[in-house]
Amino acid sequence: MRWSIPFVTLFAAAAVAVAAPAPAPAQDGALTQRQSQPTFPQPPGPRDITAPPGWDDIFGNTDVTRWMLDYHNQFRAQFGSPPLAWNASLAFKEAGHTALCNNSHWGNDNLAWYSTSGDASFGVNTLIDMWAGEWVDHYNPPREVYDHFSAMIWASAKSVGCSWSLACRDGDWPHHIYLTCGYEPVVNLLGAYAENVGTFRGS
Ligand SMILES: *[C@@H]1O[C@H](CO)[C@@H](O)[C@H](O)[C@H]1NC(C)=O
Ligand SMILES: *[C@@H]1O[C@H](CO)[C@@H](O)[C@H](O)[C@H]1NC(C)=O
Repeated sequence: MRWSIPFVTLFAAAAVAVAAPAPAPAQDGALTQRQSQPTFPQPPGPRDITAPPGWDDIFGNTDVTRWMLDYHNQFRAQFGSPPLAWNASLAFKEAGHTALCNNSHWGNDNLAWYSTSGDASFGVNTLIDMWAGEWVDHYNPPREVYDHFSAMIWASAKSVGCSWSLACRDGDWPHHIYLTCGYEPVVNLLGAYAENVGTFRGS
């Protein structure tokens, strides 16, 4: 079984650095009109990472972990993929991964580094938007790419577990976060793209 998720490093001097164009703003009076491109979900509730992961995070019982799960599910719905459940066993594994500051993949996981000289509070949306923003590489013209985006919306995935570290060093950057999200069962399985990465259905 082979899968592929590239590694992305994001270095940012400012607090906001997203590797994708912003989604088109909603038009006035367009509430019944479908967007022609995906939108980055904005679930309600706090989404800042301010502390290392604890047991409540591993079990998916905190605002930020619920936010990450809701984000995945709202984004997946735009492509017709069913919702994921939080997987505490995966989150525990990812907590071990991020605690070691090991920036190799541990199986089927999306990784993101974010370093900043700006505000030390990390909105996790900055990192997840970066993964989601890779949708632009898949459409118009349609292309089979195995990346963070395809991992996020992979239709046969059933669960996700994410973790992070605020304690990894990245040169002289004063503030640094390392975020990973793992998926089960396997995502980005080479050759299974067509049945797992749906077309955009509107947001
Ligand atoms: C949760 O993740 C573990 C691996 O850490 C996997 O064995 C299990 O099947 C997953 N559960 C679900 C519901 O996907
Ligand atoms: C990081 O994890 C990978 C994959 O398990 C492993 O091969 C590598 O030796 C680890 N690196 C360090 C510095 O621990």
